[in-house]
Amino acid sequence: MQNPKVLISESDISTRVDELAAQISKDYANKGELVLIGVLKGSFIFLADLSRRLSIPRHIEFIAVSSYEHGSIRSGAVRLVMDVRRSIEGKHVLVVEDIVDTGHTLLYLIDMLKSRNPASVKTCTLLHKAHRTEVDVEIDYLGFNIADEWVVGYGLDYDEKDRTLPYIGVIEPEE
Ligand code: PRP
Repeated sequence: MQNPKVLISESDISTRVDELAAQISKDYANKGELVLIGVLKGSFIFLADLSRRLSIPRHIEFIAVSSYEHGSIRSGAVRLVMDVRRSIEGKHVLVVEDIVDTGHTLLYLIDMLKSRNPASVKTCTLLHKAHRTEVDVEIDYLGFNIADEWVVGYGLDYDEKDRTLPYIGVIEPEE
């Protein structure tokens, strides 16, 4: 099988992650420890690279959610399947996603985390399919806006395949 077509190269990702990490480090300087919450599974590579390039104190957490699907159509309903391990009360929180598509997952997470009285909740996503976003969701740090294509690699999968590709590629899913 051929490798997926390159949409965003490994070096372009690396440059953008450097820029995001510099901006985040600047914005959170002298604000105490930043809690980075990676949304499993897709964010694990982005979170690993981003977190290692920050120059501020940070703490890593993970969270997992599940979207209700009817065939390939998502209903928009989201359910928490794994929570963070430590309280976020009084902490600055940054939710780290690989991709925002309809926006339902991120909106659910922002609302849920804000109800726990953190100092702040902001969001960072590597990719955003802005044309597909259905809800008003704030993205504070964005890597790349992309068109409505099926993307894989750098944490993103198609049926669990291609997650560990070093670049973001485009595929045409089988019907
Ligand atoms: C992806 C992605 C986001 C969510 C975004 O996760 O990682 O969490 O979908 O979609 P939305 O904006 O339409 O809500 P996915 O369900 O593919 O799970 P995975 O990260 O475990 O692959």
